[in-house]
Amino acid sequence: MRSLLVIVLAAGEGTRMRSSRPKVLHALAGRSMLAHVLDTATRAGAAQVAVVIGPDHDAVADEARRAAPEAEVFVQTERRGTADAVLAAREALARGFDDVVVMYGDTPLVRPETLAALRAPLAAGAAVAVLGFRPEDPAGYGRLLTDEGELVAIREDKDASPAEKAIGLCNAGLMAFDGRVALDLLGRIGNANAKGEFYLTDAVEVARSLGRRSGVHEAAVEEVAGVNSRAQLAEAEALMQARLRRAALDGGATLVAPQTVFFCHDTRIGRDVLVEPNVVFGPGVHIEDGATIRAFSHVEGAHVGAGAIVGPFARLRPGAELGQGVHVGNFVEIKAADLAPGVKVNHLSYVGDSSVGANTNIGAGTITCNYDGFRKHRTLIGANSFIGTNTLLVAPVSVGDGAYVGTGSVITEDVPADALAIGRARQVNKPGFAARLRERLSAGLAPKK
Ligand code: UD1
Ligand code: MG
Repeated sequence: MRSLLVIVLAAGEGTRMRSSRPKVLHALAGRSMLAHVLDTATRAGAAQVAVVIGPDHDAVADEARRAAPEAEVFVQTERRGTADAVLAAREALARGFDDVVVMYGDTPLVRPETLAALRAPLAAGAAVAVLGFRPEDPAGYGRLLTDEGELVAIREDKDASPAEKAIGLCNAGLMAFDGRVALDLLGRIGNANAKGEFYLTDAVEVARSLGRRSGVHEAAVEEVAGVNSRAQLAEAEALMQARLRRAALDGGATLVAPQTVFFCHDTRIGRDVLVEPNVVFGPGVHIEDGATIRAFSHVEGAHVGAGAIVGPFARLRPGAELGQGVHVGNFVEIKAADLAPGVKVNHLSYVGDSSVGANTNIGAGTITCNYDGFRKHRTLIGANSFIGTNTLLVAPVSVGDGAYVGTGSVITEDVPADALAIGRARQVNKPGFAARLRERLSAGLAPKK
């Protein structure tokens, strides 16, 4: 196994994003572009990851360390070109890895398999390997110049002759280097070009002048799409969602209308799960086999047990733990609550900071009043209990196993096991009262037509 150093260039400001946030911190499928790239690097087997950021980009450094705690962060103090950016990580390069791969923080759709394919020419003796692609419009990209099928140079758009501009095969930006010569190659790159920048791409010509070969691996256009604007971010999101939907389908889930289901990068979804149209999954969701997520539900930070039914129009918030066969119905919100197997909360309820025992039924319109304006309090409901419709459970409070709570109760005291609690005004019937009242109120008025 060849050791791998991945250097991620993340110095871009991303002015076209019109954002106060650095570009690489914008998110796709629930995590930053930078985190996607770091994840790809890690999954491709990188022994070390280095992230090159611009000056005063502390937020980017923080995100890099959060997403990849082992990552080293380097600062490129002045924007002098891509080769100069890579050299900011000189200290990591000097440690002598077999392979060095350079990725861009704003190119988030690259897969680990593609990194492996890109590195293959290095194992076969090449000094440089370039990820090529054929964009619909090559304007702006570096063109790959070949001679008898061999890559001999990369010509940047601004420096290209009309004949070179006609070449369709372009540089996607990802490049790989033989780690033993990378520093030497980069050190020989000059800046005599249209932009006056140190071009990383010149490594191909430098290697050739030293008698070393360069290789190309061609990737699909979609995979190497870079993000420079909000519109491109939305396009990348669409591509990422298409991948996630495909993975869910391949894993044995049914998506009735895949285009309307939105996944997070980490959504785990089992076999024979049915997802109806218009469902959104936020971060940290695990849906077990055979569960059904009905239309228009929003699910994040939740674990849904096997065979459970959620929705339509349900909201599961972080810490929702639904056991096997639980039913959570329409207009129900669950947050930080453990629902044991067989629990039913079918209509119009809020259950938060709670634990509910097996097979308990929670009636329509039940609310756990968990917040006093300062702190959250817990509601503990036992197994096989029955909470009547329109009950308010004022936490902290508990309801024992097998207890009944009468409809319309406001429960402020603990309910013992197997007890019946009624916490509402007693009903009074006054015979004939309504008729007398009507007579009194209508006195002197013209009869109704
Ligand atoms: C680069 C490639 C080009 C390729 C294209 C693909 C070079 C010289 N050219 O061109 O062949 O077709 O990407 O999108 O590499 N960066 C720094 N510091 C710098 C300069 C750049 O960190 O001093 C970062 C940028 O933030 C960006 C990446 O490197 O993430 C590429 O730089 P950019 O200026 O966008 O290069 P392109 O002209 O697009
Ligand atoms: Mg660019």
